[in-house]
Amino acid sequence: MHVIIMGPPGSGKGTQAKLIAGKYHIPQIATGDILREAVGGGLAPGLETKVYMTRGELVPDEVVIGIIEGRVTQGNCGRGFLLDGFPRTLDQANALEGMLGKRGLTIDHVINIEIEMEELIRRLRGRRTCSKCGAMYHLLFNPPEKEGICDICGGSLYQRDDDKEGTIRSRFEVYSNQTEPVIQYYASQGLVRFINGVGKIDDIFFRIVEAIEDRKKYAKRRSHPS
Ligand code: AP5
Repeated sequence: MHVIIMGPPGSGKGTQAKLIAGKYHIPQIATGDILREAVGGGLAPGLETKVYMTRGELVPDEVVIGIIEGRVTQGNCGRGFLLDGFPRTLDQANALEGMLGKRGLTIDHVINIEIEMEELIRRLRGRRTCSKCGAMYHLLFNPPEKEGICDICGGSLYQRDDDKEGTIRSRFEVYSNQTEPVIQYYASQGLVRFINGVGKIDDIFFRIVEAIEDRKKYAKRRSHPS
């Protein structure tokens, strides 16, 4: 199963991607996480990448496409994968089609989480991430038991550089100029399910699973008409 999860910054893609990947036993491939790891490890591509990410701009297509090309051929992608944060430009979408096409594969589900700007800003401002295990918290909606400390591993919590006020605005602009056309592109192929991203995490997850199962039934009916 090949799934793409889309939505504006802070819409809950990462939160939901972990749950979907767990339910369907497919790996979550999150370009943002992969890029942050490269930056944190001080690797050469990471150093250039940091400048783009800190400004809230997209990392050049060739860098990200190269990462995805390497990742989707790894062994644990045999049953499929869930892309979180990719594709974000039409060129990335074309490259993905090429990668899958070479193997006779297609995208099965595109989930787009919809949510209002005010809520997005609230979520991004309050997000805190564990520097050790990557667990995610929110100062209001999901605070850690001890301030600044991860409940799971005791690591310290930090605020992402790109969650600071000025950068949040540029990320929304980039999203609307470069990524919304990708959603329209998939929508024109009838692939997108629009999911209301407001509510409890479990309720949103339920809506996504329902959408995936619906589409699976529809695909089955089309391949085995009675
Ligand atoms: P990336 O890391 O992908 O950031 P993003 O798309 O901006 O998305 P976020 O991670 O900010 O939010 P999310 O939607 O995953 O929400 P989350 O679940 O964390 O990319 C970062 C940067 O990397 C980009 O700006 C770019 O520079 C670069 N990059 C990445 N991919 C690229 C690509 N393909 N091409 C080029 N460059 C690329 O939730 C947010 C908060 O809300 C959390 O605190 C969470 O706990 C809370 N929350 C979640 N759900 C709920 C809920 N239902 N109720 C209340 N709180 C909730």
